[in-house]
Amino acid sequence: SRSIRLAVIPGDGIGQEVVAQGLKVLSAVLPQDVKLETREYDLGARRWHATGETLPEAELESLKDHDAILLGAIGDPSVPSGVLERGLLLKLRFAFDHYVNLRPSKLFPNTPTPLAGRPEIDFVVVREGTEGPYTGNGGSLRTGTPAEVATEVSVNTAYGVERVVRDAYERANARPRKKLTLVHKNNVLVYAGHLWKNIFDRVGQEYPDVTTDYLHVDAATIFFVTQPERFDVIVTDNLFGDIVTDLAAAVTGGIGLAASGNINPTGAFPSMFEPVHGSAPDIAGTGKADPTATVLSVALLLRHLKYEAEAARVETAVTEDLAARDGVTRTTDEIGDALAIRVTA
Ligand code: IPM
Ligand code: MN
Repeated sequence: SRSIRLAVIPGDGIGQEVVAQGLKVLSAVLPQDVKLETREYDLGARRWHATGETLPEAELESLKDHDAILLGAIGDPSVPSGVLERGLLLKLRFAFDHYVNLRPSKLFPNTPTPLAGRPEIDFVVVREGTEGPYTGNGGSLRTGTPAEVATEVSVNTAYGVERVVRDAYERANARPRKKLTLVHKNNVLVYAGHLWKNIFDRVGQEYPDVTTDYLHVDAATIFFVTQPERFDVIVTDNLFGDIVTDLAAAVTGGIGLAASGNINPTGAFPSMFEPVHGSAPDIAGTGKADPTATVLSVALLLRHLKYEAEAARVETAVTEDLAARDGVTRTTDEIGDALAIRVTA
């Protein structure tokens, strides 16, 4: 019989609450014969305060022994900025070579958008996940003096760019519109920009059915607001991808709905699924957190593990749940219950 070995990192703030709903929906949607084995990891602010550890080697090793990881949220105001981000979240993305950071954006029915005229929005951002300015290459000279100089080097390798660009072409080729947009800034960032553009053009020759487009990132932000329907698949570097996916979330109902997958397409390491939102310490424990982004991340997890029918059921449940919303405020738990009922219906 089939089984899923799932590592769970609830993390900080609302992470605990939303992950509980994600697991509720996952258990509900899986067929009877699939055995779900979960192991919870105590990582995040509490652990750091208690032991000073962010991600011990032994835990990193044991996480490898899973089919996938479900993560809630990392970060707490009581921990200096960057400690958990770099020591835990980014460490996982780098250690498990999550080079595809997949972030779909869809405007669901009955969901508010600040955009005029409710355009059709259904695109996916393939954000590079292991390079760019996120590698920690840089430094500071004369730190703390009026003459301080800080550098933050963006690392872009042909190997790293080609593999993520190829993945984006594959995804574009599998979608009805078959359109891929490269977002960069090659009018200023000439070295990295040209590497990306050259590889984008070269790999594109292998995908004659895919229509390609290039946008500078600043121009792209205009189109996210004025013409989001022009996007199908977007491929971009780690930092541009971070920024544009928050904007994408804002125009499609907010980060309460934005899902993501940190994917290692080779299967060499477990992929990790997490809502795009953070730990929201201001509402932690109040039951106000919307678990939908986590539930949609569970759908991405299911699809990654080849449970396509179950992934589609979860997405349909979310679509129906949003369509049925009547403005009455529901708790985190109530939304989770409603989704769990819909996936079994
Ligand atoms: C995200 C977050 C992270 C990122 C932070 C918390 C390190 O903003 O997942 O988008 O920058 O990737
Ligand atoms: Mn971000």
